[in-house]
Amino acid sequence: MSTTHQPLTIAAVGCGSRARTYTSIAMSMEGRYQVTAGADPVPDRLEAMRTISANPDFKAFESADELLAQDRLADVLIIGTQDNYHFEPAKKALEKGYHLLLEKPAAQTMEETLELARLAKKYDRKILLCFVLRYTDFYSKAYEIVQSGRLGEVMNIHATEGVDAWHQVHSYVRGNWARTGESTPMIIAKCSHDTDYISWLMGSKCTSVSSYGRLSYFTEANAPEGATDRCTSGCPHAKPQGGNCMYDAHRYLGEKGSWLRMVYHHPTERKEEDLLNWFKTSPWGRCAWKCDNDAVDHQVVNMDFENGGTASLTMTAFDCGRGLEIYGTKACLRGGDIYDGFASSDMMIRDHATGEVELIKLKVAEDDGYQGHGGGDQGLVNAMDAIFRGEGSQNSLIEHAIEGHLIGFAAEESRLAGGKPVLLDSHQRGSA
Ligand SMILES: NC(=O)c1ccc[n+]([C@@H]2O[C@H](COP(=O)([O-])OP(=O)(O)OC[C@H]3O[C@@H](n4cnc5c(N)ncnc54)[C@H](O)[C@@H]3O)[C@@H](O)[C@H]2O)c1
Repeated sequence: MSTTHQPLTIAAVGCGSRARTYTSIAMSMEGRYQVTAGADPVPDRLEAMRTISANPDFKAFESADELLAQDRLADVLIIGTQDNYHFEPAKKALEKGYHLLLEKPAAQTMEETLELARLAKKYDRKILLCFVLRYTDFYSKAYEIVQSGRLGEVMNIHATEGVDAWHQVHSYVRGNWARTGESTPMIIAKCSHDTDYISWLMGSKCTSVSSYGRLSYFTEANAPEGATDRCTSGCPHAKPQGGNCMYDAHRYLGEKGSWLRMVYHHPTERKEEDLLNWFKTSPWGRCAWKCDNDAVDHQVVNMDFENGGTASLTMTAFDCGRGLEIYGTKACLRGGDIYDGFASSDMMIRDHATGEVELIKLKVAEDDGYQGHGGGDQGLVNAMDAIFRGEGSQNSLIEHAIEGHLIGFAAEESRLAGGKPVLLDSHQRGSA
């Protein structure tokens, strides 16, 4: 990549896992970016951001409010705080004149999401949403195939999101997204990537959404006999007692250590005794069936589109990885983790006229493949580089990428109303 441009300056509100990932990638793109400031109440995280910036003039603040009380400190502000604290700093930052790299979900409600789109227009600022899925090798290839016309007209799409049972427990039973009132509903928190991708692929506005789903398994009624409230309280199913519970918090000390690093600072530098003490009070030491969670562990969503297309999405805790099926008038495409596992290809296309099947193997990043963010995080930072210099596709800006959020919020409304369809008409969409 050429270095003839001036560096794009970025600051971050919330120096957690996502913001540090984006800034680390940005700093690896020599000369393209400069990190000027960061805000986070956790000193370790702020220091980690300072280190990433390698900027002697890096300005550190203890809160978003403090950073936003200053004159504008960068071209682009990353909003990398938790789901319940995106809207307020995003709104203030737009008023201050920042462009935004805004983590999904944009906000906690449909109204706030639409309000941000309106404010971006009002202040002539750009909001790039962090829909990294769009930039992965797998999903960008599927999009390219649809655009090429090879599948004909897309009639319907079916997507699956297998969260993985351990991931479900770590994030949506014990963790940050377990209580939807304090965060966002599962279908937004986890699946706004999927609803965004479906609507992007369909290239049409969604007109109606219906949804069913509930929390069925991770409830006290399903706790194994004799299970204690915490894994460290002498639970007969935990490792020290010879148990083999698949959600035992002691697994964080072994094969699940990478999950611990996301929620606990420097675990590898601590004594095992300190970690075990931490499990005695931390949410991540609780029994997987005895938490205060209300996030669903399975949900289905049906979507109807203006162009006559239909789509469905299945989210489940009880599979691992994503799947995609696109049914076109000329051919259908199937792909995802299941195909990679059994057919050693990433996607297959079956032509209706000839019956021929083509298997497509992609060269995906070795570290996490397309089921994670394989290529997606780097792709997003590349998009940021282009978009904020006015050189790239505007596709992922909030005004073109809001559909997935609207579908997600409508799905939750429908689910809570027992599956009653929610119409996404001009009234719901406001003036955005
Ligand atoms: N795009 C994706 O693929 C993707 C993946 C995971 C998470 N996310 C989303 O990214 C967001 C951040 O997730 P994360 O895993 O990085 O979370 P995190 O908890 O690691 O980071 C959030 C940070 O915000 C800080 N913070 C809290 N209050 C603050 C305040 N008032 N001012 C400044 N900072 C404050 C916290 O101390 C923390 O360091 C969430 O909304 C999450 O849903 C997106």
